Amino acid sequence: MKPQVKPERPYFSSGPCSKRPGYSLENLRTDVLGRSHRSSLGKAALKDAIDKTKELLGLPADYRLGIVPASDTGAVEMFLWSALGAKPVDVCYWESFGKGWMSDITNELKLENVNKFEADYGKLPDLSQVNPDHDVVFTWNGTTSGVKVPNGDWISDDRTGLTICDATSAVFAMDMPWEKLDVVTFSWQKVLGGEGAHGVLILSPKAVERLETYKPDRPLPKIFRMTKGGKLIEGIFTGATINTPSMLAVADYLDALNWVESNGGVSGMKERSEANLAVIKDFVAENDWIDFLAESKEIRSNTSVCLKLALDADKVKEVVGLLAKEDAALDIGGYRDAPAGLRIWCGATVDTADVKALMPWLSWAYEQVK
Ligand SMILES: Cc1ncc(COP(=O)(O)O)c(C=O)c1O
Repeated sequence: MKPQVKPERPYFSSGPCSKRPGYSLENLRTDVLGRSHRSSLGKAALKDAIDKTKELLGLPADYRLGIVPASDTGAVEMFLWSALGAKPVDVCYWESFGKGWMSDITNELKLENVNKFEADYGKLPDLSQVNPDHDVVFTWNGTTSGVKVPNGDWISDDRTGLTICDATSAVFAMDMPWEKLDVVTFSWQKVLGGEGAHGVLILSPKAVERLETYKPDRPLPKIFRMTKGGKLIEGIFTGATINTPSMLAVADYLDALNWVESNGGVSGMKERSEANLAVIKDFVAENDWIDFLAESKEIRSNTSVCLKLALDADKVKEVVGLLAKEDAALDIGGYRDAPAGLRIWCGATVDTADVKALMPWLSWAYEQVK
């Protein structure tokens, strides 16, 4: 039977992700719009975004955080281009985005001393093989496979290499062991339900040291340049962005941060996300035609929850189409390179009541197409 109740907000996309509950454009501050981002007002808004993010995330005092162009991709690539090549590089990947960084490193930067640790969708490679004297590039949460790194225990405290972590679908939803991470990137459009356009780049003192002491022999576009005369451009990390940011996106981000602050900070966000995952876990336990793509509980993502169905790819598409047509769930098809299945965003901006309301719809859609 067709379920009677629909999710109030059927927004389960894995990026851009659902806006926060209660979101309204009217809540955004507009005094920064139409003003220079270098005016005292504009700069203060950018600095506020930086300071609030650092505080909410509990970053070590000596870590820097900057707002950079081109979303998470921009943040990752500006560091790869600026700093890789000083040491051998270990690249760990298990889904599409991590594979993309591998391609950047080998096909574009053409680095030669590169080791790859690869795993198929649903699995994690053996991270203990990473050499602490190499740089390592990895993704904290594989958004397209729903597989996350369970913890940072495999990262040596005595490493001489840099740990470079694309954590775009993890930050604000998972515990991040900051001291183990030298470079962390994320974008506003994921866990916080913010806008695309800008990325966040977090640097440890060791990462800064690399930028100040190593100059790779390759051209760097202006939007990747973080040093001048061998010194870090500190302004990037205090609100003097490299080029013009969208102040509307900044206002939107500040709204998201305020919401995080008044809802228990990162632990509140984690709880919301884990409660969403728990609903799906119970549903999977009760239904033998659906299962997590992630092979074990420890590596199962609590944000990008990827599911496989006992249906062929065309039928999965039908399920996705039916649910969208009914306005029961939007944008829940698996990523184009991933095995056919569903991907249901369970980050903090999604309400648990909506995940609960969605479950009977999954059964209904499955029964329609099987
Ligand atoms: C793991 C991962 N890295 C990078 C990206 C690219 O992010 P953006 O589009 O914000 O640059 C995504 C987007 O979904 C992602 O999931």
